[in-house]
Amino acid sequence: MGAYVITGGSKLSGKIRVQGSKNASLPILAATILNCQKSRVKNVPEIKDVQVMISILTMLGADITQNGNELTIDTSAVNTWEVPEQLMRKMRSSIVLMGPLLGRFGRVKVSYPGGCEIGPRPIDLHLKGFAALGVKMSESHGFIYAEAGKLKGANIHLDFPSVGATENLMLAAVLAEGRTIIRNAAKEPEIVDLQNFLNKMGCRVKGAGTDTIKIEGCSIADLKPVEDYTVIPDRIAAGTYLVAAAATRGNIVLENVILEHIEPILAKLREMGCRIKTEDDRVELWVETPLRALDSLRTLPYPGFPTDMQAPMMALLATVEGTSIITETVFENRFKHAEELRRMGANIKINGNTAIIKGIKRLTGAVVEAKDLRAGAALVIAGLAADGKTIVEGTSYIERGYEWFDRNLQALGAKIEKTN
Ligand code: UD1
Repeated sequence: MGAYVITGGSKLSGKIRVQGSKNASLPILAATILNCQKSRVKNVPEIKDVQVMISILTMLGADITQNGNELTIDTSAVNTWEVPEQLMRKMRSSIVLMGPLLGRFGRVKVSYPGGCEIGPRPIDLHLKGFAALGVKMSESHGFIYAEAGKLKGANIHLDFPSVGATENLMLAAVLAEGRTIIRNAAKEPEIVDLQNFLNKMGCRVKGAGTDTIKIEGCSIADLKPVEDYTVIPDRIAAGTYLVAAAATRGNIVLENVILEHIEPILAKLREMGCRIKTEDDRVELWVETPLRALDSLRTLPYPGFPTDMQAPMMALLATVEGTSIITETVFENRFKHAEELRRMGANIKINGNTAIIKGIKRLTGAVVEAKDLRAGAALVIAGLAADGKTIVEGTSYIERGYEWFDRNLQALGAKIEKTN
């Protein structure tokens, strides 16, 4: 198991370019199954989750060329609707393959997905939505068999605006007969990116970014190759670097950001007293005066504060004097990093879905373990801000979502090395 060895105390400073979005790339790569032709997708981050998706698509029969951040995917020879179990278990988001496989073949066999350990992450909303589209499903021994023949457009109301369920249902409904309306849909920017990609392929989707998405079904014959599509920047990676800069009281510039997408994060950093300057696709953050604690930070679906930034913010708040309160409303049991942060001296109490953080002057380096992707990033941030040496074990979790994390941080002046 790899580890990052960090010597804390250096203020981050300098400029980096933010990677393409992980959470937009994964459903877009899954969507390439639909057109049975070529798609060229740019700004895809070189991260482990993308590699898993590439492996799955290749095993399904796709021909993929990877040139850095650019992928050319030809799905004309995809000839199976069974997703290999051992790959499916590696990544929860592989569940988004159900939608396009159902659309293209009218059937799919998958196992229950794996992924980060952040509490129970059911897929009931995905399955209820598929049932509304006319899919018959049976489950046995950890496998789901789904069969529809031809999908039928439907009115779907999600009980919760699940990102994955919204994407999966969009991916299935584009090849259904007739119109589908998804209400209480997730409004995340990654959903808009998926809509844009699908429409470039010839699908007819509108409304993404609002809570109502309307899809007019079409047939595979109506779809065309996607000659050139660029994935949006990763708002969570951007937020992570900004929070790391704030935790070290540094001064950094990020390029390739969409300011609107990171506004929920910037708003909280401003409230803490961080200085922020924005222009076009750039953001600069620096710290002049002591930072202030946050009396309320609630995670919410977009445009609320993202749950994926909760752990990094907890690491930052652990270094800010005063009492901060975080309420996690999106996932149950997403506070495992608190225990690891305590090993570094943080004063954090957990009560149900609330964390009470009493900030201290300096964290102390320790040996800690990343238990999921964003918790791992939080521990690295804590290590950068701490006195002495921190060893963050479990780099494979962090590499699932961050492209060149250690190199980017080194470019900003951090003392971080990876060991095996
Ligand atoms: C996506 C993101 C993840 C982010 C999350 C919330 C990807 C690849 N991952 O995950 O980084 O943290 O959105 O912004 O895009 N739920 C159900 N039943 C379902 C589906 C979800 O109860 O069928 C619940 C989940 O348990 C969770 C909440 O809904 O409590 C949100 O989950 P969801 O929006 O689906 O997250 P993901 O799509 O898995």
